[in-house]
Amino acid sequence: MLYKDFFWGAATSAYQVEGGVEANDWAAAGRTGLLPLAGRAADHRSFFQHDFDIARELGHNAHRFSIEWSLVEPEEGRFDEKELERYLTVAKALKERGIEPFVTIWHFTLPLWFSKTGGFKRKDSAEVFCRYARKVVSVLGGEVKFFITINEPLVFASNGFLKGKWPPLEKSFLNFFKILSRLEEAHKLAFTAIKGMFPEAQVGIAKNNIDFESNANPLNFLKTIFLRWFWNRRFLDKIFDYQDFVGINYYFYRKSGGKEKCETSDMGWAIHPKGLYSVLREVKFYQKPVYVFENGLADKADVKRAEFLRTHIEELKRAMEDGVSVRGYFHWSLIDNFEWDEGFGPRFGLVEVNYKTMERKIRPSALVYKKLIQENS
Ligand code: BGC
Repeated sequence: MLYKDFFWGAATSAYQVEGGVEANDWAAAGRTGLLPLAGRAADHRSFFQHDFDIARELGHNAHRFSIEWSLVEPEEGRFDEKELERYLTVAKALKERGIEPFVTIWHFTLPLWFSKTGGFKRKDSAEVFCRYARKVVSVLGGEVKFFITINEPLVFASNGFLKGKWPPLEKSFLNFFKILSRLEEAHKLAFTAIKGMFPEAQVGIAKNNIDFESNANPLNFLKTIFLRWFWNRRFLDKIFDYQDFVGINYYFYRKSGGKEKCETSDMGWAIHPKGLYSVLREVKFYQKPVYVFENGLADKADVKRAEFLRTHIEELKRAMEDGVSVRGYFHWSLIDNFEWDEGFGPRFGLVEVNYKTMERKIRPSALVYKKLIQENS
């Protein structure tokens, strides 16, 4: 009933799977030894057709991938038409298989020329981003309807500028807020430009939202109210008039003043399916279509993923029954990927990648997901 025309699939991002990317801030940080290097990654650049065959075989009718900015704009203002054509081929390869492409224009990594000149600290960064977004959409716009301008603005700003974990490895409150407002501006400009070029395009962001809860302590309760607003809603409120949909990535559950006993993933992250319901219910009042653009876990032995999928999809259905207009679910990830500062240890893939031979192997949970898709379509 509810699930006709629903998009079911998985997500990836360019630097995490493609391989061979050298001229971005992550590769540069990797070369200094401060962070792991992605190197050849899963060589999705060579294997994308094969990987999409697997996605089709697994019953997916949608796939989210990202564009590597440093490849498309290797020097400021100069675009590499061949790379853009390559991404067009990627989008077409999906459509040929009956899979709807969802394109993330920017997923965390910055071209070196941009990061070296200040990145999003630059006064003109919103315009710089918009020029890039415009170019991408001018090439892909005919094939692709769904665009995600920015992946997880708060994660990018907090890991890079507050916690000092990700490039540019800074710890500055001032810059954290500066980056957030530049990203907001960048999204708004890009949204307006894209809609001007392709009014039928559907544009939004992917926002990492957390299920914040508290114990009965009033201080913890207030803290939770603040966090829900600051982390989950503030950015979405600011871009309210500049999004066709609300995109949610859900991974985390935080309880102030206590711990619920939860199973955990290989990375120690709590597995808390009800949190998916809460974060979806929280964005109902925006009255827009909602997509779950990421949700998944590191589970190398594949012993928890099937149950994870089952229980999270149950909660997603519950949110829909409560009136949240969810239109799609993208599992993270289709294939094993480079997990940022954690390197290649964590295994998020529905499909296992042997990084030596590049052989792909479908994990049993991917077949459970296939069945869930069939049952719910
Ligand atoms: C990011 C992905 C990442 C995933 C798992 C999300 O925050 O968008 O790039 O791999 O979480 O950590």
